[in-house]
Amino acid sequence: MKTIEDLDVAGRRVFVRADLNVPLSDGTITDDGRIRAVAPTIAKLVERGAKVVVASHLGRPKGAPDPQFSLAPVAARLGEVLGRPVAFATDTVGESAKATVAALADGEVTLLENLRFNAGETSKDDAERRAFAEQLAALADLYVGDGFGAVHRKHASVFDLPALLPHAVGDLIAAEVDVLKRLTEEVERPYVVVLGGSKVSDKVGVIDNLLGKADRILIGGGMAYTFLYALGHEVGISLLQKDQVPTVLEYLERGKQNGVEFVLPVDVAISASFPDTKTHKPVEDFEVVDADRIPADKEGLDIGPKTRELFAAKLADARTVFWNGPVGVFEHPAFAEGTKAVAQALLDSDAFSVVGGGDSAAAVRILGFDETKFGHISTGGGASLEYLEGKTLPGLAALEG
Ligand code: 3PG
Repeated sequence: MKTIEDLDVAGRRVFVRADLNVPLSDGTITDDGRIRAVAPTIAKLVERGAKVVVASHLGRPKGAPDPQFSLAPVAARLGEVLGRPVAFATDTVGESAKATVAALADGEVTLLENLRFNAGETSKDDAERRAFAEQLAALADLYVGDGFGAVHRKHASVFDLPALLPHAVGDLIAAEVDVLKRLTEEVERPYVVVLGGSKVSDKVGVIDNLLGKADRILIGGGMAYTFLYALGHEVGISLLQKDQVPTVLEYLERGKQNGVEFVLPVDVAISASFPDTKTHKPVEDFEVVDADRIPADKEGLDIGPKTRELFAAKLADARTVFWNGPVGVFEHPAFAEGTKAVAQALLDSDAFSVVGGGDSAAAVRILGFDETKFGHISTGGGASLEYLEGKTLPGLAALEG
């Protein structure tokens, strides 16, 4: 793959496909990690006199403009992080984009509006995607792929556009791939994986692959209840994917055969309803019960104190850790202790620790941990999981050609 250094960028329009899909609450960015992560690539291009055209998606709008998914707040924050103005185009390939790009002087930056406001970006129809990519290509001379969080998407700006312009891999993607290679090639053992998040179905592929690689897999978050249910426990009104039970049982069995230890919660924090993560209203019926004692009208929302200790013990001697997905509803303080304990256990161990995924990465920062103390905090959730599944990622394949 070519790197930015291989491109002659001075005075040329460089399209940077970033992943600026940051969490927003009422128009305010709650975690700017992805903006800060790509800023060095943009700054490098600016220094070298490029006219930088940054583009990204945000959320999942339905192929048409939708103000709640506007990148306008991101343009403002990107300007602050870069310490220079970022012109904002209010469309993707329309009059505003054309005029804003045409007005760029060397070393200036613009951000286009959300790429997913155009149906061509995510279209399954190759011709429709390609047509949108051609419109984007008209805005630039060179392409830099640096949106690691989106490389698993076969989208116009990720997959089709690099084929239309001389291209290179950005520094963020290069760094992310280097780290993930460490988890797939010669892994230092014990290799412990912590998986959380809500759905087993999102993690099925990665568990399948890890059963041949990891030494221990710690399961928390909403997905743990499908595992507990599969083992015959009642899980009340907790998140449950009954259709995944046969898969989970098969994994547990394969784990035994391959010597991969699954570690499940032994106690959980429960309530009758999902907590208010905006107001942080106190949870009146907060309770901790053993994992096989969840009442019929309660749901599990975090791992309990015994599980926190158990997970910490299972992480203590790790040499390599991959963590994807919060183990509880960390957005509410009553259910944040489990996720905090996992983050702390990673910091306390000598392992090379990789925190993968938008949610777990945001959790680490929102809970006040110093992100520089972790081996690596990935900007890619689905992308890092699919990489570890061994899949070919369209956005990486496109940069190779
Ligand atoms: C992410 O947040 O994982 C990436 O930005 C990709 O977003 P998507 O799942 O909506 O494609």
